[in-house]
Amino acid sequence: MKDVDGRTIYLKDYAPPAYLVERVELTFVLAPEATRVKSRIRFTPNPGTASRDFFLHGEELKLVSASVDGQAVTPAVTDEGLTCEVPDAPFTWEAEVEIAPARNTALEGLYMSNGMYCTQCEAEGFRKITYYPDRPDVMAVFTVRIESELPVMLSNGNPGASGAGFAEWHDPWPKPAYLFALVAGELVNHSGSFTTRSGKDVELNVWVRPGDEGKCAFAMESLKKSMKWDEEVYGREYDLDIFNIVAVDDFNMGAMENKGLNIFNSAAVLASPETSTDANFERIEAIIAHEYFHNWTGNRITCRDWFQLCLKEGLTVFRDAQFTADMRSEPVKRITDVIDLRGRQFREDNGPLAHPVRPESFVEINNFYTATVYEKGAEVIGMLKRLVGDEAYAKALDLYFERHDGDAATIEDWLKVFEDTTGRDLSQFKRWYSQAGTPRVSVDEAWEDGTYTLTFRQSTPPTPGQPVKDPRVIPIAVGLLGPNGDEVQETTLLELTEAEQSFTFEGLAAKPVPSILRGFSAPVILDRETDNAERAFLLAHDTDPFCKWEAGRALARDVLLRMLNEGAAPDKAFLGALSSTLADESLDPAFVALVLALPSEDDLAQAQVDAGLVPDPQAIHAVRERMRDAMAEALEDQLRAAYAAHQVPGPYRPDADAAASRALANTALMLLSRRDGGALAQTQYDTADNMTQQLAALSALLTAGAGEEALKAFEAQWKDDRLVMDKWFSLQVAHAEPGDTAATVERLTRHPAFTMKNPNRFRAVFGAFAMNQAGFHHDSGDGYRLMADWLIELDALNPQTTARMCSAFQTWRRYDADRQALIREALERIMAKKDLSRDTAEMIGRILD
Ligand code: ARG
Ligand code: ZN
Repeated sequence: MKDVDGRTIYLKDYAPPAYLVERVELTFVLAPEATRVKSRIRFTPNPGTASRDFFLHGEELKLVSASVDGQAVTPAVTDEGLTCEVPDAPFTWEAEVEIAPARNTALEGLYMSNGMYCTQCEAEGFRKITYYPDRPDVMAVFTVRIESELPVMLSNGNPGASGAGFAEWHDPWPKPAYLFALVAGELVNHSGSFTTRSGKDVELNVWVRPGDEGKCAFAMESLKKSMKWDEEVYGREYDLDIFNIVAVDDFNMGAMENKGLNIFNSAAVLASPETSTDANFERIEAIIAHEYFHNWTGNRITCRDWFQLCLKEGLTVFRDAQFTADMRSEPVKRITDVIDLRGRQFREDNGPLAHPVRPESFVEINNFYTATVYEKGAEVIGMLKRLVGDEAYAKALDLYFERHDGDAATIEDWLKVFEDTTGRDLSQFKRWYSQAGTPRVSVDEAWEDGTYTLTFRQSTPPTPGQPVKDPRVIPIAVGLLGPNGDEVQETTLLELTEAEQSFTFEGLAAKPVPSILRGFSAPVILDRETDNAERAFLLAHDTDPFCKWEAGRALARDVLLRMLNEGAAPDKAFLGALSSTLADESLDPAFVALVLALPSEDDLAQAQVDAGLVPDPQAIHAVRERMRDAMAEALEDQLRAAYAAHQVPGPYRPDADAAASRALANTALMLLSRRDGGALAQTQYDTADNMTQQLAALSALLTAGAGEEALKAFEAQWKDDRLVMDKWFSLQVAHAEPGDTAATVERLTRHPAFTMKNPNRFRAVFGAFAMNQAGFHHDSGDGYRLMADWLIELDALNPQTTARMCSAFQTWRRYDADRQALIREALERIMAKKDLSRDTAEMIGRILD
């Protein structure tokens, strides 16, 4: 077993830096195998600490020379950095190092992607570029000079001098090293401009490889919308003369908010109707907004240390969700966010990888860019806003920006701003940041003499390192409906603070039906004994879109579980409720599509575990298939009508209304392909003029078992488009039958276009594999073996993406002894690999623990 424990870093050990940096001058002489990086750094002793231990981070660097105030020095160098004798007074450090971007397959630090140089420094990548105090509480003004023959050379801040073979950049805003960026290559730009509300003109550019320039317009529009929205809603203006976005094909994550120079995975920028789906357009708009919003929540105010990651990520996710809700449908955004939260964050919170929104220790910080830090971090902010109200939230945010601009801040700073604004004591609320695990809230009702009482009990199961939990503040939004479906109590916010607490509603004429956790007001699991008649009633009448959808979801889950556990037939009442939903023309078609979507296989597996059962992934898969067949049969006429009614005429538009119509029409198409052998899907495939329609048709054809020809045609049409080919790879894995999934994955890895070096392509195959629960968990164990084989290979090249993919195994303890043994074997085989990265070793260690 690898011992990674010796490297554990603790929040409680935080100590301020011994030296601060006033300014940094960097010169890059670019060459693929031997880039020279010269640094000139002005250090001053930190008056805030007595320590004078001078340490600079540095990894995989070849030190050529170093000097202090012009005198050559010979520092003591280790794998992690260097120490050196320095004055207890301001001094200038100069060093020259050599690095090899062309050999950097980890895609962290300075690396090359399709001949272009680019960087990824968050969280700790800058130390692979030069020796530096690579920690977010050291903020400095950077000046950068790039030397190469490449036509485009970019860095942070505003452009300075440039000429043949060089370009200079100066960033006036002090920043931590993780926000440093450099790009150089043969790039073309799609340009635009934005005038801020105080009248400053900003030059905007989206830089891409030649050939991709036709796919930038949507990103540019999204950027302008984001800039305007942040001015209008948060009063935040942009603060440089230029804002650059660069699309990079090889990227471990979605995108990165480097000051003035955002670097994006090309999948999160490039968009065209022919190559991108509605979901792609929505995601691109959201990620552009997310990275742009970081300029204030992340860059102007950054994190003191990496334990505070949620300070910038939770808040920025919350802000981008607000933005999407404003640009599109608020209810649909909320429902899809909850589906995502439950699918990824609840799953994480419920297993060996559970950790608090603000973790207290880590081995490798890259392993903590998680659904918990991001998505639960955003939910915590949503709860805070609900508890204090919109007006106080706005005031608190103004104070946050005023008080902490230029700071490397903490969660304590953040909460203090709310306490000072509202006079509220948030010490109990703070448990949301320190306690891991998803609270379960059970609810009982009582009815007597016109008084209706709801009694809530909260508890949170143990998580690694946290056996016992204290009650949290849980905002529970509740409304009540009368027997005829009218709302008799509009939404009111109950604040649950005790382990058990009751709330009463008086003066009611009849026993009401409660609508609880409206808008999903807290990230908890609500346990309520109720029957399907009540669920169908809420699906029909609830005025809160989230609870309305949730009622349908609970109904579907119950019906599917009965089929699974008791061998029941597809429930007629459920099919009737779906029919009524389809018939209700007042509903948003995107909402109807969400009601028609069944709970995921993973969701049902967890529901079985909650009921004390051991899930059988293949049986779960079969039951969902059976239910879809039943839906297609029972609803066929209505589905045909919906398909016809929701065809969107005219040229493709990516807006929410058009996308909503396509979502419903394509949901109908998927079901109808179970009736007509794929005939309608083939027609749609043959006539589609946009990727949403083309991909949905292909997917429907695969469902009907009639996709072979279309798959070939699709490949021939799109073989030169990397992002579209990712879809082609994924779709085949997603549609593979359980017993055939591993073989399908294996076959695809032999395709000439498969490569481990491109994270998008690797994830297209192996990410889809992990999502195909019945295939991945097939009782042959082939899925586990194949995944382990490839993760072992990938780890040598790209530890970050490998470590991320390990989470495919995180639910292993819910399965039977045979599967558990097979998984353990696979995980131990990974762990035994020589020179396994610390990223992967930490993940496997935690999963096995
Ligand atoms: N800050 C980036 C974002 O959320 C993500 C960077 C992730 N980096 C990493 N090494 N995990 O916008
Ligand atoms: Zn972010």
